[in-house]
Amino acid sequence: MWSQLPTALLAVATTILFAPAVHAADLESVLAGQVNLTTFRGLVKNHTDIFAKLPQGVTVAVPNDNAFRKLGNWEAYNESTIAATLKYHILKQVIGMPSIEKGDSIWASTSLTDEKFSTVSGGQRLILTKQPGGEVVFTSGFATRGTVLVEDLKFDKGLVQVIDSVMRVPETLESTARSAYTDLTAFVGALYAADMIDDLAKQKDVTIFAPRNAAFQQLAGTFEKMDKDKLKRVLQYHIVPGNLTHVWELKNASSLATADKGNKLTVTRHTNFIYVNAAEIIQSDILISNGLVHMIDNVLNPDESDSRPDVTLTTAQAPVFTPVGPTETGTTVPTPFASNLPCTVSCPVSQPTGAATTTGAGSGQGASSKNAGVAAARCTGLAGAGVGIGLAMGAMIAGL
Ligand SMILES: *[C@@H]1O[C@H](CO)[C@@H](O)[C@H](O)[C@H]1NC(C)=O
Ligand SMILES: *[C@@H]1O[C@H](CO)[C@@H](O)[C@H](O)[C@H]1NC(C)=O
Ligand SMILES: *[C@@H]1O[C@H](CO)[C@@H](O)[C@H](O)[C@H]1NC(C)=O
Ligand SMILES: *[C@@H]1O[C@H](CO)[C@@H](O)[C@H](O)[C@H]1NC(C)=O
Ligand SMILES: *[C@@H]1O[C@H](CO)[C@@H](O)[C@H](O)[C@H]1NC(C)=O
Repeated sequence: MWSQLPTALLAVATTILFAPAVHAADLESVLAGQVNLTTFRGLVKNHTDIFAKLPQGVTVAVPNDNAFRKLGNWEAYNESTIAATLKYHILKQVIGMPSIEKGDSIWASTSLTDEKFSTVSGGQRLILTKQPGGEVVFTSGFATRGTVLVEDLKFDKGLVQVIDSVMRVPETLESTARSAYTDLTAFVGALYAADMIDDLAKQKDVTIFAPRNAAFQQLAGTFEKMDKDKLKRVLQYHIVPGNLTHVWELKNASSLATADKGNKLTVTRHTNFIYVNAAEIIQSDILISNGLVHMIDNVLNPDESDSRPDVTLTTAQAPVFTPVGPTETGTTVPTPFASNLPCTVSCPVSQPTGAATTTGAGSGQGASSKNAGVAAARCTGLAGAGVGIGLAMGAMIAGL
C-alpha cells in the first residue's frame, strides 16, 4: 500500500504541472500520440482549410484506421464529399463524454453547414448516446453508429474522441429509404405519387413521421380508392415543418402542428412506448439531410386527429382508416406505391409498365399494379447496400 504513495503523489504533481491549458498541444501532436490514426492524420494534414483554423471550443470525432477500412469505399469519395464528411466530424461545442448521463442522448451540431449537404439549422447533427454500460455511441446518417474508443483527449481547441466508424453524412429521405431504411419505400413512393417529393426535399428542419411499408399494405384497398388530393392531405399530416423534434423532446400530451394546415398530432407516452395519435414510433431519430424521421407503425389520418392509442394492447394498434379489402402484410403482399419509386441506375433501361424489379431484401417491395392509377408505374431500383439496417435498428427504441 505505502509503496504506491509516491506514484499517486507524482500523478497529482503531474496533473498540477500540466493541467493549465495554456500550452495544450495542437491537434496533430495529440493525434500523433495515439496509435492507428494514420488515415485521419493524413486528412488533417491535407485539409488545412478545415483543420488549421478550427475555432476555440470544438470536439473532433476521429475515426481510427480500422474505421476507414471498414467503410470500404473511402477512395471513392471525391473532394467535396471528403470535405463534407470531415466537417461532419467537428462538433461545435466541447462535449466531455463523462458529462453525458447513462441512457441520455445529446443532439450535437457539427460544422457541416454547406447547403448542398444539409439544410439543418446551425449545422447537420450527430446524436451522442451514453449506453447503459457507460460507453458513448455516435449516430450519423444511414444509421451508421460509432463507439467512442478513446475519450476526452485534450488539445488546444477542445477535445478529441476516437471512434470506431466513419460517420456518414445524412442524405435525403429518398436516398436513406433506398439504401438503408427500405421499410420506408412505400412512404417515399407515395410522396412521388402525390408529387410532393421535391417540395419536401426543399424544406428545412422537418420532422417526418413515416409509416413503414406494412402500414401501407394493410390499407392497400383504401389507397387504391383515394384520389391524389386526399393522398396529399394524408401525407402532409405526416410532416411537421420547421421543427426538428427528437424523440426525447416528444413530451406526453404535447402536440405538433403539421403541414396539413397546422392540423395537430398529439404525443402519448406510456412506459417505454411513444405514440403520435394512435401510431407507435418504432424507430426514432433517423437523420436525413433536411431534418429527421421517426418511423411509425400506422398511417396517420388527418380526419381522425383525436385518435389515441389503446395503451393496454399488447398487439399493434389498429389502423385509423376503414380498411377496404384484404389487409395482409408481409413480403409476398404487394406494397402500395412501390411502383411509384423511379428507376435508379441499377434498373434495366426499359421496363415493362407495372413490372417492378426488386433488388433489395427489405420487407415487401413487391410490384404493385393496383395503385397505378395515381401515377405512371415505374420500377423500383433499390441499392443493395445497407439493406436490413432498418430492421436491425428496430430494437433501439426499447433502450429509451
Ligand atoms: C492497431 O491496429 C493493429 C492492426 O489492425 C491492431 O493489431 C492493434 O491492436 C491496434 N492497436 C490499438 C491500440 O487499437
Ligand atoms: C493526402 O494528399 C496526398 C497528396 O495528394 C495523397 O497522396 C494522400 O493519399 C492524401 N492522404 C489522405 C489521407 O487523404
Ligand atoms: C462527388 O460525389 C457525390 C456523391 O457521389 C456526387 O453527388 C457529386 O456530384 C460529386 N462531386 C463532384 C464535384 O464530382
Ligand atoms: C416544436 O416542437 C416542440 C417539441 O415538441 C414543441 O414544444 C413546440 O411547440 C413546437 N414548435 C412549433 C412552432 O410548432
Ligand atoms: C399522458 O397524457 C395523457 C393525456 O393527457 C394522460 O392521460 C396520461 O396519464 C399521461 N401519461 C403520463 C405517463 O404522464
